[in-house]
Amino acid sequence: MNIVAIAGSSSPHSYNKRLLEFMQQHFADDDIRVISTRGLPMFSEDDPLPESVKEIGEAIAAADAVIIAAAEYNHSLTSSLKSLLEWLSSDVHPLTGKPVFLIGASTHAQGGARAQIHLRDILLSPGVQAEVFQDEEFFLGDVRNAFDDQGNLMDEGTVKFLEKCYHEFLAYAKTVNQVKGGQADA
Ligand SMILES: Cc1cc2nc3c(=O)[nH]c(=O)nc-3n(C[C@H](O)[C@H](O)[C@H](O)COP(=O)(O)O)c2cc1C
Repeated sequence: MNIVAIAGSSSPHSYNKRLLEFMQQHFADDDIRVISTRGLPMFSEDDPLPESVKEIGEAIAAADAVIIAAAEYNHSLTSSLKSLLEWLSSDVHPLTGKPVFLIGASTHAQGGARAQIHLRDILLSPGVQAEVFQDEEFFLGDVRNAFDDQGNLMDEGTVKFLEKCYHEFLAYAKTVNQVKGGQADA
């Protein structure tokens, strides 16, 4: 499966990006492209779609599915991720009908759960209309102690649960794509 994985982080050393890079290695049968929202231009209604955002929109439109790993800032998602979603719900709507799996990592115990709640609402709004996977939720708390030096998740139970969530999401994405078949508009 061709998947775009977005780290919704404004950090140059993002743990959420690291989690997606682990998934890219671990689920190597799928083609997972990892991108970050760090440094993207802030949404402005007056400005044309920036080239960097246009390219992300086209990648999403061409993908079978999207994973968003959302960093949590002040009990919500980062401004850089929110801004990307504003760009992608204005002139172009590549997330419409697209299967999306939400995950998150945080240095705190809750693993970014509150950011995910806000993100889910945004993705279900009329301007976005993504098909958000609801059956599982993946939150990685205390993330500073989660990876080894090679970037692998160290806890076997966490890896098993991530595998379960991921494979259930792939099945969901296949079903959504069969029913909806290419609604995206980049
Ligand atoms: C401005 C700011 C606000 C934060 N607020 C929260 C928060 O509300 N909840 C939380 O779990 N972590 C919070 N954190 C800690 C983040 O979980 C931590 O920085 C994490 O590494 C962010 O993910 P990233 O590494 O992918 O950027 C905050 C961090 C910053 C810089």
